[in-house]
Formats: sequence, structure tokens, C-alpha cells
Amino acid sequence: MATTGCLLLAIAFFTYTSNSVCDGKPNIVVLIADDLGYGDIGCYGNTSLSTPALDGLARDGARLTHHLSTASVCTPSRAALLTGRHQMRSGMAPISNIRVNFWLAARAGLPASEITFAELTKQAGYTNALIGKWHMGISRDSFGDHLHHPLNQGFDHFYGLIGTNFDDFADDGHKIVLKQTPYFNYQWLSTWMIIAMCAYCLYRTKHINGILFSIVVIMATIVCGYPCFVFNNLLLLNSMIHRNFKVVEQPIRHVGLSKRLVHEGLQFMKNATVSGKPFLLVMSFVHVHTAIKVSREFEGSSSHGVYGDAVQELDWSVGQILDQLDVTGQRNNTLVYFVSDHGGHVELGSLGGYNGVFKGGKTHGAPEGAIRVPGLFRWPGIVPAGRVLDQPVSMMDLFPTIARVAGVPLPADRLIDGVDILPLLQGHTEAAPHEFMFHYCGNKLHATRYIPNTGKHVWKWVTHLPRYKPGSHACRFGCTCGDAVELPMPHLYDVTTDPAESAPVPPDKPIYEHIRRLVSAAVNEHRDSLAPVESQFSARNVLWRYSLQDCCQGVFPFNCSCLDTVFPESFYA
Ligand SMILES: *[C@@H]1O[C@H](CO)[C@@H](O)[C@H](O)[C@H]1NC(C)=O
Ligand SMILES: *[C@@H]1O[C@H](CO)[C@@H](O)[C@H](O)[C@H]1NC(C)=O
Ligand SMILES: *[C@@H]1O[C@H](CO)[C@@H](O)[C@H](O)[C@H]1NC(C)=O
Ligand SMILES: *[C@@H]1O[C@H](CO)[C@@H](O)[C@H](O)[C@H]1NC(C)=O
Repeated sequence: MATTGCLLLAIAFFTYTSNSVCDGKPNIVVLIADDLGYGDIGCYGNTSLSTPALDGLARDGARLTHHLSTASVCTPSRAALLTGRHQMRSGMAPISNIRVNFWLAARAGLPASEITFAELTKQAGYTNALIGKWHMGISRDSFGDHLHHPLNQGFDHFYGLIGTNFDDFADDGHKIVLKQTPYFNYQWLSTWMIIAMCAYCLYRTKHINGILFSIVVIMATIVCGYPCFVFNNLLLLNSMIHRNFKVVEQPIRHVGLSKRLVHEGLQFMKNATVSGKPFLLVMSFVHVHTAIKVSREFEGSSSHGVYGDAVQELDWSVGQILDQLDVTGQRNNTLVYFVSDHGGHVELGSLGGYNGVFKGGKTHGAPEGAIRVPGLFRWPGIVPAGRVLDQPVSMMDLFPTIARVAGVPLPADRLIDGVDILPLLQGHTEAAPHEFMFHYCGNKLHATRYIPNTGKHVWKWVTHLPRYKPGSHACRFGCTCGDAVELPMPHLYDVTTDPAESAPVPPDKPIYEHIRRLVSAAVNEHRDSLAPVESQFSARNVLWRYSLQDCCQGVFPFNCSCLDTVFPESFYA
């Protein structure tokens, strides 16, 4: 009805700004790719994969060449994207080698006190959906309290993965724990054997009695068995799809998943159109994170194996959503944003993304390949078509931009790190929105970007580097923040002329000292702005708990299997 009203208005008062007459509340579509590299898509220079939908977004809107994620792994970067705040402010900055929400049945997640952009649009009367991957927790204090669940963070509809996709879900024997730590199980087994043998010796030499011996062996079995169980059973513990609060599919059928996500997204848009409310749709795609399986239609469709096929199926998914906007006449009345949560996973070789000229990738912390991501905005009639922006922009800028577009004030009780970039997108300004940007690995600052308001240079002050395998820009399966090397003499790069971060500026150049001072003052100010918060990554919060474990039928661990009968067979092929 609102659409018809809007059309009538547009016809009655034909003006150049006919796109914005619909009471000023456009729809918002946020498209998030998982692990997609900067160099994986056509509009970012890839000539061997076909991505017409994304290339079309770039052609009809703005393409950001210097677009930055706030972390090199999913959970913290998504927390920052949703809240417009650095992950440290919400306790979502990892503090150990467990850097993402690993188990669904853990207490960790985006605190309910955080304000997501969905909560902003809800205030403005939107209907909101998140389809796909969430990865920011579910329940906290008890099973089913759903404190971290998307429906408790501003969304009205959810369909998808509460956690993340894992290699282990392919059920082909691949376990990410063994990729990162090949002797993981042997280490725990040998630890158990040593403890048991020592206890046995003490028992035989009558230093301890039988009861104490049994207690020690039982304790050792629990302590050593727990990590083996929880890391080796990600498929059983995590592979499930929820619709709203209910598990509807377990384990996940990867083949056809893109079709199911798209179908749900289209259905949501149809519902929203009928209701006449403006909508916010977040399509948080599962592609191109491993385990990768594509629908039959995309098998062998690219010249880059199953990874390339997945990029192309991702592009198809984007195209389906955009087509629907055209069909319903919502194209001009919709702001569309596309982003990848961080760089491609280079250690996976042909199963991981390509980060173009940039060094490093997913998990690496601050190198450009870890955090420089594709970024596209389309809003016909508002954002000039074909605009290419080289100004450094953060994914956190989405939050205030949405606030502006939806016409709601920014929360006044907290610091928002993002900046409204609508004027930049529109071409009303060419000024870079940020002067300094801070790049973290876990909870440690590894680099600071300085964008002077004059001139064309962008400086990057790097204090830590990942501990790469000698002669490479890669670690084994991923890099850890704890292993990073602190540079005795920080590196300074001009990332406009040296995007590959290959030749640091010599420290004896006057510019080095000049930038050191500016960065040092900015870092101090930034650190002062960080208030202490409860870490979501404490051992207590990240560990798997039996009491929080879901199982779609039966009693865990039995019969945890079901199939969503909403979809016909073709959606699983
Ligand atoms: C395109 O992407 C694929 C997959 O990541 C990559 O292997 C290939 O090198 C890229 N091609 C170009 C020309 O950038
Ligand atoms: C669309 O509306 C129908 C009918 O109210 C509802 O059953 C369905 O869950 C909705 N789907 C989505 C994706 O919003
Ligand atoms: C949508 O916006 C474009 C660009 O401003 C304009 O050319 C086109 O006529 C608009 N379409 C409608 C249906 O308003
Ligand atoms: C598991 O499913 C089987 C077959 O449907 C049934 O007989 C059994 O009782 C179920 N077990 C549990 C624990 O639900």
C-alpha cells in the first residue's frame, strides 16, 4: 500500500528526487560475504571469475577501494559491523587463541546491552531480518534465554547459522583442530597416559591409596577428554540451522544452502512489501567459507575449482536479491551495501580467497590482506553511479550511515567509532571520514592508519607482524595473535604507493619521526577512550557447556538430526 501511495505521489509531484519521496525511509539491504578476498570479484580486478551481480552494484553505485574490516576473523569483525563500535568496546575482542565463537553451547556472544543497526531501524519502524550466518552467540545463563540471539538484537526474523561454517561440517574427516595442531589428540592422550602412569606408580609404591588413585584417573580423563571431545565433534555440536529460535535442520546440508538462504530472503522481502513497512534485510552468506559445497547448477561452473564455483554462487545469490528489488519497484528506494567480513584465507590455497596485491589474509591481524575488503554501496539517484572512492572507510561506518538513512539519532550514551559516510558516497564531500584507524589482532593494537587531511598519502604504522613461516606470508592454518612478533622499530608504510607493504620507510627519514609522534598521541587518546568491559572471550564464556547444547530431536547426543520440510527436495541439490 505504501508502495502504491508512493508511486502516486511520485506521479503527482514529478520531481527529480522522486526516489526519496517515500516518507524518507528507504529499505536497506546489507550483503555480507564470508572470507571473500579483495581480489576474488570482477569489479576488484578478477578477470577469471564471473561476478556480474557484484560488478553491476559497482557500476550502478560506489566502489570503495580502501575499505577496512575491524578484525581478521569473523566474530569480532561482525560485532563491530553490527554496532559501529570497535569490538573491544563490547567485549568481543578475543584475548586468547580462541578468536571466534567456537561452540553454539557457550555463554559468549554480543551483549544484549549493545545496540545493533537493526535496533536503530526498528526504532524507525522497519521490519528486520537476518538470513545466514550470525556467529555472535545464542544463550548465556541458561538454555533458551536467547540473550545473544538475533531476535534479541533487533531482528524480527532469523534463518541460518547461529555459529559459523566449519571444515568439519563436510564430514569427510577434515578437522580444523588437526589442521592447526596436527598432534592435538596425541598430546592429550599422552598427557593422560603420563598422569595415569604416575598415579599408578604412586599407588603401587603405596604413596596413595586406591581411592585417590581412582580420583586422579577420573579427573585426568575429564580434563584430557573434554578438549578432545569438544574440538573433535564440531559437526555434532555446531552443524545446525535455526529458523528463529528453533533448530530446523541438523546437520547442515551444504548443497543447496545458498538457494535456501535466498528463498528465505525473497520471502521476507515479499512479506515486507505486503506489510508496507520499510525493511532491513541482512543477507549474511555462508559462502565462501569452508566447508564449501555448491548447488548442482554451480558445480564446475568456474575455472577455480569449488572455491571459484562458490564465489559465482555467491554472486548469483546477490543477483537474486537485487532482481527482487527491481521486480517490486524498490530498486531506487533501497540502499544496498556489500562487504566481506575480512580477507581471504590464504593458507587454504585453492580453497581460500585471493587478496589481490595485499599481503596476508584471514587471521593475520593487521596486514592489508587481512582487513582490506571489497565494499560496494548502491542507492540509485542518491549515490552517483560508477563512483570510485579511495578514501579509507571502515565497515563500522555502516552503523551511523544507517542511522542517518533511517532518520534515527545515534545512541548518545556510548562511543560510536563509525562515521556517517552518506555525504562522501553522494559526492557532497571528498574528505576522508577518519584521520586515524586502529587495527587489532585479538585485543592487541598491531597497526595504526593515519590519513592526513591534505595530500594523497595514507600512512600505516605497524608495530606487530604475524609470525610467518620463513620466506612466506602465511602461517600453518592461520596465524595467532599471541605468536605475533613485536617490531623493535615499527614499520611505516605509505599504503597508497606501497599497498603490498613491502618497503618500509627508513626510520631516518624525517617523516618517520613526524608520523611516530602523531600516531603515538592518537593511540594514547584512543586507549583512554576504552572502558573496561567483561570479555566475551574469557575461558568461562567460550567453553562448551552441556547445559546449553541444543539438539533438534531426541536427547543430546542421540538423534540430533532433522530436515527442514519447508523446502522441496530441489533446495538440497
Ligand atoms: C580470481 O580469483 C581466483 C579465486 O580466488 C584466484 O585464484 C585468481 O588468481 C583470481 N584471478 C585474478 C586474475 O585475479
Ligand atoms: C512470511 O510470512 C508468512 C506468513 O505470515 C510467515 O509464515 C513466514 O514465516 C514469513 N517468512 C519470512 C521469511 O518472513
Ligand atoms: C531510478 O533512479 C534512476 C537514477 O536516478 C533514474 O534514472 C530512474 O528513472 C529511476 N527509476 C524510477 C522508477 O524512479
Ligand atoms: C532416536 O530415534 C529412534 C528412532 O526414531 C527412537 O527409537 C529412539 O527412541 C530415539 N532416541 C532418543 C533418545 O530420542
